[in-house]
Amino acid sequence: MAEGYPQEQRDAVYRVIAERRDVRQGFRPDPVPPEVLGRVLAAAHQAPSVGFSQPWDFIVITDRARRERVAALAGRHRDAFAADLPGARARAFDRLKIESILDTPVNIAVSCDRTRGGRHTLGRATQPRTAEFSSVLAVANLWLAARAEGLGVGWVSFFDERELAAELGLPAHVEVIAYLCVGFVDQFAPEPELATAGWARRRPLSWAVHAEEFGRRAMPGEEPVDQLADVLAAIVPPDAEAMAAARERQDRMTKPRGSLGVLEDVSVRLAGLAGSCPPPLPEPACVAVFAADHGVHAQGVTPWPQEVTAQMVANFLAGGAVVNAFAAQAGAEVTVVDVGVAADLEPVPGLLPRKIARGTADFTEGPAMTRDQATAALVTGAEIARDLVAAGNRCLVTGDMGIANTTASAALICAFTGADPADVTGRGTGIDAATYARKIDVVCRGLDRHRLGAPGAPGLPEPADPVGVLAAFGGFEHAALAGFILGAAALRIPVILDGVIAGAAALAAVALAPDATAACFAGHRSAEPGHAVTLSYLGLRPLVDLGLRLGEGTGAVLALPLVQSAARALRDVATFDSAGVAEKS
Ligand SMILES: Cc1cc2nc3c(=O)[nH]c(=O)nc-3n(C[C@H](O)[C@H](O)[C@H](O)COP(=O)(O)O)c2cc1C
Repeated sequence: MAEGYPQEQRDAVYRVIAERRDVRQGFRPDPVPPEVLGRVLAAAHQAPSVGFSQPWDFIVITDRARRERVAALAGRHRDAFAADLPGARARAFDRLKIESILDTPVNIAVSCDRTRGGRHTLGRATQPRTAEFSSVLAVANLWLAARAEGLGVGWVSFFDERELAAELGLPAHVEVIAYLCVGFVDQFAPEPELATAGWARRRPLSWAVHAEEFGRRAMPGEEPVDQLADVLAAIVPPDAEAMAAARERQDRMTKPRGSLGVLEDVSVRLAGLAGSCPPPLPEPACVAVFAADHGVHAQGVTPWPQEVTAQMVANFLAGGAVVNAFAAQAGAEVTVVDVGVAADLEPVPGLLPRKIARGTADFTEGPAMTRDQATAALVTGAEIARDLVAAGNRCLVTGDMGIANTTASAALICAFTGADPADVTGRGTGIDAATYARKIDVVCRGLDRHRLGAPGAPGLPEPADPVGVLAAFGGFEHAALAGFILGAAALRIPVILDGVIAGAAALAAVALAPDATAACFAGHRSAEPGHAVTLSYLGLRPLVDLGLRLGEGTGAVLALPLVQSAARALRDVATFDSAGVAEKS
């Protein structure tokens, strides 16, 4: 067996990997000596390549006028990107430096010629993109060698590739892979700048390692992770000390005691959730609209055809729904998750394709989903929460879309709270008396079918098996939303709940982990009767009560500025002592 390197050299290899950074600031004007640049380029040129085709070329640019033209190209795309960002993100992006084209003495463009090596290049015939992958590996070598030489490298990708290729005089068959800004620096940041700036977080390695097949997370030598159990285990009670500190600070703030009413409680709960006073500002925020279809639609519980679910998903993605308007106003991002729409959806930016199945089964005839499906949807929701937080969000907002989902919600609410179907079944999108009577009957038959109690009988037993209840009645969006809430709670990130669908999902989440309530903020009280029952069962006070019954996340988004204001007041408002304001005697 070949020997590994001696320990010291091995350490150096791992060190350069750990300490390589994308550098955008703090460059020195010193020129890079040709021999240093030569060594770095030689390292790049030793990269592996498909069929040994070596598809890269390196264009070394020092001319100031050319770099100014390249910087202008990048500037235009930076501005266009910024113009598209929701409020808090745009402010954070404004603080980021994304290129150092003019601050560095040398720029290097790395290109790819995917025709090099001819027709029979090994491996490229079946996977043409391997040509580009090979050029990227040259970049990786260059980046590591540069770090070892004390040279910072910043990769700029804010380009229209054709514009850049024209500026660099590339022939038509050669494309640009990377544009790198290179120069000496005084120091390298210990962490990615985007992490330090709070833009994104590093994902733990354990999230990225799967054993044998995708989704079976396991580190080498360890048993596969039970993801749901892991999420549940991470949920802790709110921090009593932080809550007490928040309460005490509210009393010292330059305002009469208690004058911020419910917002004082919100700030105290945010502090308890975060475990710090003041808590971090809950921004940026992202609304995740979970969309799915329901087998119970076949029972005639709504006049709307099932296709409307997919059509509304397209509307959310095109930015044309009410939730888009409200989110734009509140400065929040909208993400749409297909967890079970009964149609094939085109892949478009903003859509997360996470379909468990094409709609649930009819719960009056059997379980809406299998236990495995319910668990998969829970885990999916938790992973989405995790990914959105890793992407830099500090507040999550629930949204939902699914024709017939108020019927499934009513059944879930009855099963979890023991309420009477007649008290919690609502008119949803607006239905006539005959449909309403049928809807109540459907909920009763569903409950009866799953033997959770006789129709209409008061005090249905509180089910000890929340996954079983979700599987019996839930939509995929209910189960995924429950996972989303649990995922937020596990990360100690606030989640603003929308109406009755989110409420029904929260009942499942809290049945699985009672401390998850600490992460939940009730955005509003919907006009659906089951929602008030749910909120009082959860002990949550709605922040907005405007008779909304739309769903999509609309009521929750309206409450976002309230939650953010509550946190900001606790952070920013002066205290009597600090401001020198006299207190009431
Ligand atoms: C393909 C690619 C394109 C990138 N484009 C940009 C860019 O346009 N502007 C920028 O500031 N950083 C860019 N980066 C740098 C990343 O933001 C950076 O690698 C990431 O934040 C991790 O930080 P680290 O490289 O210091 O570990 C790019 C990185 C890669 C791999």
